[in-house]
Amino acid sequence: MSETPDNGEAARRAAELRETIAYHNHRYYVLDAPEISDAEYDALLRELQALEHAHPDLVTPDSPTQRVGAPPLEAFEEARHELPMLSLGNVFSEAELLEFDRRVRERAGAAVAYVCEPKLDGLSVNLRYEDGVLVGAATRGDGRVGEDITVNVRTIRSVPLRLDSEEAPSLVEVRGEVVIRKSDFERLNARREREGERPFANPRNAAAGSLRQLDSRITARRPLTFFTFGVGACTATLAETHSGVLERLGDWGFRVNEHVQRVEDIDGCLAYYRWLLERRDELDYEIDGVVYKVDDLAVRERLGFTARAPRWAAAHKLPAREATTVVEDILPSVGRTGVITPVADLEPVEVGGVTVSRATLHNLDEVRRKDVRIGDTVMVRRAGDVIPEITAVVTERRPEGAEPWEMPGQCPVCGSEVIRLDDEAAHRCVGGLYCPAQRMGALLHFVSRRAMDIDGLGEKLVTQLVEREMVRTAADLYHLDARRLSGLERMGEKSAANLIAAIDASRETTLARFLYALGISHVGEVTAQTLAEHFGSLEAIMAADQEALEAVPDVGPVVAQSVAHFFAQPHNREVIEALREAGVHWPEPKTAPADEAPLAGKTFVLTGTLEGYTRDEARARVEALGGKVTGSVSGKTDYVVAGADPGSKRDKAEALGVTVLDEAAFRNLIGE
Ligand code: IVH
Repeated sequence: MSETPDNGEAARRAAELRETIAYHNHRYYVLDAPEISDAEYDALLRELQALEHAHPDLVTPDSPTQRVGAPPLEAFEEARHELPMLSLGNVFSEAELLEFDRRVRERAGAAVAYVCEPKLDGLSVNLRYEDGVLVGAATRGDGRVGEDITVNVRTIRSVPLRLDSEEAPSLVEVRGEVVIRKSDFERLNARREREGERPFANPRNAAAGSLRQLDSRITARRPLTFFTFGVGACTATLAETHSGVLERLGDWGFRVNEHVQRVEDIDGCLAYYRWLLERRDELDYEIDGVVYKVDDLAVRERLGFTARAPRWAAAHKLPAREATTVVEDILPSVGRTGVITPVADLEPVEVGGVTVSRATLHNLDEVRRKDVRIGDTVMVRRAGDVIPEITAVVTERRPEGAEPWEMPGQCPVCGSEVIRLDDEAAHRCVGGLYCPAQRMGALLHFVSRRAMDIDGLGEKLVTQLVEREMVRTAADLYHLDARRLSGLERMGEKSAANLIAAIDASRETTLARFLYALGISHVGEVTAQTLAEHFGSLEAIMAADQEALEAVPDVGPVVAQSVAHFFAQPHNREVIEALREAGVHWPEPKTAPADEAPLAGKTFVLTGTLEGYTRDEARARVEALGGKVTGSVSGKTDYVVAGADPGSKRDKAEALGVTVLDEAAFRNLIGE
């Protein structure tokens, strides 16, 4: 195509945009120091895309528009490295490191300085630049020939498509590691879960899977980062030292790891190792060791190579934090608050220097998401001091017939019902008053100041009472006597007598406090107060079904479910009965004198929409006149007030022969 003036202007603008975008790309992806917003960056990119779309001849291989991926490949081609990509010799202890240094100095005939680098846990990649332009990228493969992954590597923003240099060598191979940073990994996995895809086991697997995509448009959506650690073949001398080479690479626009450090001798290497080991958890990428490299390139020449690895470098492994083992069982473990956590029992395995035989699976969703089954071979990971975690299942090694794990319907400790409230991820045992697993938690809550307020019963004392089996449920507290108490550690006669007096005094309480003291999940002080006021008596609360509970203002389905299930447990009812028998009491509800309360003793159910009153207003009118409003129609209901679209409650009332009032009749009854 001939160059029209118009085309010339487009070419100038395209070149300008490419340079600006490359600059901001480098600020963002290599230096972590953006100067413009994502939106501004996107606008520049869109302008360039539009220009290239209108003038396809302007598209160059180093255009940032080429980072979005290309049509899928059938297979990867082979790519031969100009210089082989060698591996590293390992040292596993300080003694071996000192031995490595001794050999180096012997061959070098002098003291040597080293460059210490984190050994990044990713995939090594060879980038080929001709006259400063990225023309090829390959995996390591067998060291001589790898796979051509150029289209994939182009999508990695920290890989310069063109070297930022006036005099780039005619050929240079830049080598480094492709990783996914921990923070990017979390986001990537969260996105995959949202989109219903299996999460990756670890950042390394995610990086490997992303680079091996035949469809580079998928790779383009993965947050890959390239860190360079050296050069392969090169037609120019870049520097006298390795640290000098890294500096040049940084100038050209590559990301060099920020913790690379030159040290004077092997003691510096040892200090670096200890320093990095301490910081391992703070780094935003996974590392599996430290690499020490002789800094002076002339000394390197003298040292040369063995068959597989250079004599001038060594990798010092950090303790592995991931291991493979077998899930022997999955056991539901009941915590102090009744939450049931599935815990995997593992064949013991050493991870990061510690033997691991259990791993939490958090909750049923997690078990499903990871699809862990009894008998599975799994990867276990220990990061820092946190509890070991199963990161992935090796599904290829799943035994035949392994079934998905199920949460039991009954508490494994006390046999009460196990439920899952609507808004919760956790399953719970609802036998809170009775369940031995919840004993400590339940008792401490029961005696606390805002509950039964039994002064002097702290954690240490409750622990002793429970351990000596003097107290199993809250009701047992009321059968303690001073003589038995004074046998406990640090409990004199006087304090025993004081405690008995405090327990005795707590017998007189209020319904709201008592309800709160029961420790029903989701029933805090305010909800306890609301329930007490609304229902007036414990019997009424215990008799209320979920619908009736939901009809209480400020009580939603979760609280209603929780309360209804709690009182449905025979064991909980037994403990409540025992508490009342032990003399725990509260004032019965005050009822208005009969002549002032024309609706006293009458039970109403409101249904449908009234024109003149909201639900709450109608309820307030009924209650002001001494009546009660409940949520469900039964034989005990006196009136059903039916507004527009009343639904099934009206039908039920008619079936039961309960009087149904329309709005006018209701108005009449309440005298308005
Ligand atoms: S230098 C001839 N430096 O470790 C020396 N390698 O076991 C070539 N690696 O294939 C490697 N971080 O994938 C070097 N800072 C680092 C590294 C590093 C990670 C990987 C690389 C290499 C393997 C060798």
